[in-house]
Amino acid sequence: MASFILAIDQGTTGSTVALMNQRGDVVAAVNHEFPQIYPQPGWVEHDAGDIWRSVEKGIASVMRKKLCKPGDIAAIGITNQRETSLLWDRISGEPLNNAIVWQCRRTTDFCESLKAAGHEKRVKRKSGLVLDPYFSASKFRWLLKNTAGARAKVKAGKVAGGTIDSYLIWQLSGGDTHVTDVSNASRTSLMNLKTLDWDSELLDLFEVPRSILPTITPSSAVLGHTRGVRGLPDGIPIAGVAGDQQAALFGQACFASGDAKCTFGTGSFILMNTGDAILQSRAGLLTTVGWQLGEGRKPVYALEGGAFVCGAAVQWLRDGLKIIKRAPDVETLAKTVADHGGVEFVPALTGLGAPHWAPDARGTISGLTRGSEQGHVARATLDAMALQNADILVAMERDLGKRMKPLRVDGGAAANDLLMQIQADVLGRRLIRPRVIETTVAGACYLAGLGVGLWSGTGELRKVWQAEKEFKVQMSATARRQRVDKWRQALERTLL
Ligand code: G3P
Repeated sequence: MASFILAIDQGTTGSTVALMNQRGDVVAAVNHEFPQIYPQPGWVEHDAGDIWRSVEKGIASVMRKKLCKPGDIAAIGITNQRETSLLWDRISGEPLNNAIVWQCRRTTDFCESLKAAGHEKRVKRKSGLVLDPYFSASKFRWLLKNTAGARAKVKAGKVAGGTIDSYLIWQLSGGDTHVTDVSNASRTSLMNLKTLDWDSELLDLFEVPRSILPTITPSSAVLGHTRGVRGLPDGIPIAGVAGDQQAALFGQACFASGDAKCTFGTGSFILMNTGDAILQSRAGLLTTVGWQLGEGRKPVYALEGGAFVCGAAVQWLRDGLKIIKRAPDVETLAKTVADHGGVEFVPALTGLGAPHWAPDARGTISGLTRGSEQGHVARATLDAMALQNADILVAMERDLGKRMKPLRVDGGAAANDLLMQIQADVLGRRLIRPRVIETTVAGACYLAGLGVGLWSGTGELRKVWQAEKEFKVQMSATARRQRVDKWRQALERTLL
């Protein structure tokens, strides 16, 4: 019996293709980066062709390892950078324009105009999201208005739109299937959280025609089958799909209400499972769908807070400031100093996300003296990654009115012990790191495996998840208060 799951984790800077066996071990994982396109300050685009080629290359590399026969793949799971939006031609499958990436700020003015006209409350109540250029709706509107011939093609029924999951499923199914799952749809500002369907009022507000959008499906169910993919037989079920942060929540086995995780990726994202409750935040957080395990089943909702720049700040130290050669070198450089030495880096490189929502904010480095060294900047970067998460956690606890459970951590930078210790200290909360920190891939595999009956349910998956290390709080409450105060002062200056 086919017993392997092939996962595609299509992230902001690269695509990982991985293979998981029935025991839950990731036996192969290959990552291919692709170019980032910055047409003007604050704008970020991807060429969807580059994305698809990076996925095809990944599939080929994993299959070349011959760890299983193509016929041994029971299902495909997809997880993806969320909100990134694109349009393509329904006939040729060709993208009509570059995809607008979640980090892109080009629709700030439009979102501000909707806010000024008093629409935010309704958008938030229905979609769970604030009015910010981060989400897909204003990106679709921009693409429809600024792509030559798009309107006429829409009228002729030739345009398909969607987030990256939709585009990948379209490609994998040879153009047969145009769907998106509830977790990705919940990031567009166009889906109603209660009905789990596109909302007519929101579609009108953002001027997005329903006809271009995919059908919304559960996150775990057979949604389509492969057709014409190089290196794979036709007919493999595509059976699991979720946005990367929701997939990480699932991969961390956060199946019970109150379970929470923090993923350190390009951005950092804290999500807490709120069960079947649609918890509306009063502290600047988002309400989103975690997953839906099968048609007709109740969805699981989540509360989310995300900082747009986390690992991306380290990439900037490497590519922009050029003070490190490789991203992991940040830990070594930060260890050359005892602390941040008064240097504060607020990495608002693409505006600020939760809980501030300031799309026009820009990054600052402050507190420099004649004694400041590269090490202080590196340490200030790690501190900032952790302090942004602390701001989000405070907001989450304010919404809940109680302390959260220990946070499960994952993502590439979670391997950095120094960062994890700083995080536990500035949060004042214990952290738990699992054995597998690539939980996004794990989540996509679990969803796909459940979709084809490879695992019986979340009870079985709970046994697969294992803790590797705990990080206990070592900082005194007074020292923490002082550190957080300094950060807040720097943040205030950035928000001016
Ligand atoms: O919402 C954006 C998020 O999905 C991007 O994830 O892993 O590329 O930081 P990542």
